[in-house]
Amino acid sequence: MTTETVTTSIDHVLEETRHFAPDPAFRERAHIKSREEYERLYRESVEQPEAFWARMAEELAWFKKWDRVLNDDTPPFYKWFEGGKINASYNCLDRHLDTWRKNKAAIIWEGEPYGERRMVTYRELQRQVCKFANVLKNLGVKPGDRVAIYLPMIPELAVAMLACARIGAVHSIIFGGFSVNALIDRINDAEATVVVTADGGYRRGEIVELKKAVDEALLKCPTVRNVVTVERTKKPVSMVHGRDLLWSELMDTVSDVCPAEELDSEHPLYILYTSGSTGKPKGILHSTAGYLLGTYLTSKYVFDLREEDTYWCTADIGWVTGHSYIIYGILSNGATTVMYEGAPNFPTPDQFWQICERYSVNVFYTAPTAIRAFSKWGEGWPARNDLSSLRLLGTVGEPINPEAWMWYYQHIGQQNCPIVDTWWQTETGAIMITTLPGVMEMKPGSAGLPFFGVQPRIVDEEGNEVPEGQSGLLVITHPWPSMLRTLYGDPERFKEVYWSKFEKQGWYFTGDGAYKDKDGYYMIIGRIDDVINVSGHRLGTMEVESALVSHPIVSEAAVVGYPHEIKGQGICAFVSVPVGTTPKEEDKEKLREHVAKEIGAIAKPDQIRFTDALPKTRSGKIMRRLLRDIAEGRDATGDTSTLEDFTVLARLREEQET
Ligand code: WTA
Repeated sequence: MTTETVTTSIDHVLEETRHFAPDPAFRERAHIKSREEYERLYRESVEQPEAFWARMAEELAWFKKWDRVLNDDTPPFYKWFEGGKINASYNCLDRHLDTWRKNKAAIIWEGEPYGERRMVTYRELQRQVCKFANVLKNLGVKPGDRVAIYLPMIPELAVAMLACARIGAVHSIIFGGFSVNALIDRINDAEATVVVTADGGYRRGEIVELKKAVDEALLKCPTVRNVVTVERTKKPVSMVHGRDLLWSELMDTVSDVCPAEELDSEHPLYILYTSGSTGKPKGILHSTAGYLLGTYLTSKYVFDLREEDTYWCTADIGWVTGHSYIIYGILSNGATTVMYEGAPNFPTPDQFWQICERYSVNVFYTAPTAIRAFSKWGEGWPARNDLSSLRLLGTVGEPINPEAWMWYYQHIGQQNCPIVDTWWQTETGAIMITTLPGVMEMKPGSAGLPFFGVQPRIVDEEGNEVPEGQSGLLVITHPWPSMLRTLYGDPERFKEVYWSKFEKQGWYFTGDGAYKDKDGYYMIIGRIDDVINVSGHRLGTMEVESALVSHPIVSEAAVVGYPHEIKGQGICAFVSVPVGTTPKEEDKEKLREHVAKEIGAIAKPDQIRFTDALPKTRSGKIMRRLLRDIAEGRDATGDTSTLEDFTVLARLREEQET
């Protein structure tokens, strides 16, 4: 990351003045009932973190209590609850079975093909998880082994992940929208031995051929011994003898009893790959006890969750939001989690609101990009459905613009529901900054105050705290239980990416720019590195660039983000072609398709601009700042003194005008 990117991308513009007081009726019933109560708990969590976290950890089910709450002997490799024995699958399932919750719905699932529905009770989910855990054991999967999961949003996805957790295998879930190359990188980096996939998944009436992508990927993945295929669409797929097995056949032959493994607190729970500013995706590694505690506690307090709630997070489990807030945090609280396979607007733009009405959803969590799309489709769609069961709304993934916030508040929450804006990252595991419902005044567009134990600070490049109202870099100064433990197989990169910038101080660098207002509320501005946030999904510009460059007609590519009405950020690619060749208009679509094939449809550039050269510094570094200005339609006004060839800029602008 360079200073250049910092100064250009974190100028904040609008100061939002509207605020909304918490509703007294909500507050009376809430887990945390007053600002004073929050302040008291927060103070304790930062002044006596070990006592605080030890008390909170009592709410989980342990096979053996810990000896030491926090081991900070070798930062940044922190360890939490050392000496403890615990199991995440046990906490999400078994501990509900000797309560009334045993036969309540754990998962309510709605498929994309109309009318397809399943309800899975806690007891039934536990039985399925035990069975699949036995299947994995029979395939030779041992504690610590990695299992790659590439499935659509079907209950088997929850079963597979909890089965891994049950036996101490490490799951690595790969978003079903990713394509072959993304699969190859992730499977190989994790050295997975088993892949769990499906014969296909539904997307807007079409079938996405997941197994076919796995077959192609496995030509380049030597570590994989077996592939288990869930029969989702029942369309025949090719099966490799000896390697490929069918989910239903395996599940038929195993016992439904499988005791949860008593695992160390720090036993790895999962790897989830996320984009960074350079190189290949990073394998974020989370471990068991701290992650479980973080997701459990934030679900309870931020969503004010109770066991009788029907809760729905619309994310895909392929992203961290789905890991933490469809599965681990929600099931460990004993609530009912809704899982939906389809798109929000297929066949009609009110799919979400129909589901909210059908299951009387109480708590609803989605992304600003979805809210902006809904508001564009019009308030008539939610108005057709009875949304009166909703009592709390949440947003995550990107900054929410105040207009979208207001629309959500009025047309979905009907001015009755607090909105919790939740700032966090794949790396943080759980929500870090938010507006606690019923307790804190809400300010549209502002994430709010730190959750318990979270100590954020906004600093300049040297680590000096910046004055109130001024933007700077967001850091977290102390460890917290659900933090990532390392980058899988690459501890050096872990130190470099997150801890080297403020090494002297020992702070975690988030990669985000932010500022703090007069009330101490944090306003997140967005990434200050070469990561774009497209519809709430992180993409490294490098990844898109390498996909483009792998096409024969491209000699060089530079990718930048620009503000996009619905997606938050759109992708603009500047592409140069070999000297002597002339690109054609239809090549743009070819390149877009090529990127979709290489990475996945979410990475398709919104704009492609052909150029004969890219603006570079004398040392050959592409000047992204200038490209961003051009992509945003602004005149490139910043400092261009290091630009190698001035005419490049003029030509790029001309291209834009034609
Ligand atoms: C951004 C998703 C503003 C931020 C949970 C962060 C947000 C990145 C918010 C992490 C929010 C997430 N307000 N920005 N409420 N939530 N972000 O790893 O830039 O997919 O660094 O985790 O999304 O994205 P990730």
